[in-house]
Amino acid sequence: MSLKTKFTETFGVEHPIAQGGMQWVGRAELVAAVANAGALGFLTALTQPTPADLANEIAKTRDLTDKPFGVNLTILPAINPPPYDEYRQVIVDAGIKIVETAGSNPAPHLPMFHDNGIKVLHKCTSVRHAVKAQSLGVDGISIDGFECAGHPGEDDIPGLVLIPAAADKVEIPMIASGGFADARGLVAALALGADGINMGSRFMCTVESCIHQNVKEAIVAGDERGTELIFRSLRNTARVASNTVSREVVDVLRDGGQFEDVKDLVAGVRGRRVFDEGDVDAGIWSVGTAMGLINDIPTVGDLVSRIVDEAEALIGQRLADMVTPAPERAGV
Ligand SMILES: Cc1cc2nc3c(=O)[nH]c(=O)nc-3n(C[C@H](O)[C@H](O)[C@H](O)COP(=O)(O)O)c2cc1C
Repeated sequence: MSLKTKFTETFGVEHPIAQGGMQWVGRAELVAAVANAGALGFLTALTQPTPADLANEIAKTRDLTDKPFGVNLTILPAINPPPYDEYRQVIVDAGIKIVETAGSNPAPHLPMFHDNGIKVLHKCTSVRHAVKAQSLGVDGISIDGFECAGHPGEDDIPGLVLIPAAADKVEIPMIASGGFADARGLVAALALGADGINMGSRFMCTVESCIHQNVKEAIVAGDERGTELIFRSLRNTARVASNTVSREVVDVLRDGGQFEDVKDLVAGVRGRRVFDEGDVDAGIWSVGTAMGLINDIPTVGDLVSRIVDEAEALIGQRLADMVTPAPERAGV
């Protein structure tokens, strides 16, 4: 048995599960493992220092898998923006067929992707942005609830409401993101009207994820309360692991501080030390409330088959057993 949805059909993958872009984490080994497991993995374009490095990472991923995979292009406003057009050109030239856009309006990038037969899955955090992206012609939506790692937006709407509210307005394939880590979440997402799930934190904590073992163990040891929301007052909220650095950032900004006052604390170079050296208090690192559901460090293959097998059992047995046959209900 397998789960077929609008998402698996449209994006040509076996299972309705995606691994969204993750800065410093979405590299060849992880993405290839996700692809080999029959799910949809995304390399994170901006993890590669230059567009040429992205081309190499795509080639490296192809050496590790024959299955389809995509590239995430995170478009964030910046004082010195990365050369988005050059990264986009590399994606096209490499023959990638699926792109995950996130961070802002994907409109400037859509014509070139579509002209080259690339399907675009746009990740956003509100119903209005999902509707807007659908009207722009994207091929799928990934709707990211308040539970998620990274940027949950400013509306604070958790998936239990966000997913069905979006499903009411989105006709193209839509996957649910934020707080998903197991079969129960997948089945719930399908029941809420989504066509699959996207996971970040859960895939981060697998054997093939390239981050330091200490970080994976910290995720396993943590629970659903182990995150902080930083940058709230700057209206650029990010959900990150609770540690000495993120708690200081929260305190400084709550006491009226500005970005300048926390700039050094949140520096990307400190965050990288967490993943590279395993000092979980070295800087800011993203993780979501799904931490409360992550209790092991499996291979990607074991994780995906566990989620799919348990989801099928949940639907075919536990939920099916709850449905009383019509004649009995009628007392016949
Ligand atoms: C370490 C980490 C880095 C991330 N970096 C990005 C990124 O660069 N671009 C992006 O679109 N999403 C990024 N995300 C968000 C994920 O793609 C995904 O939307 C999110 O993790 C879903 O929530 P979950 O962690 O509860 O599964 C990141 C998530 C994590 C855990």
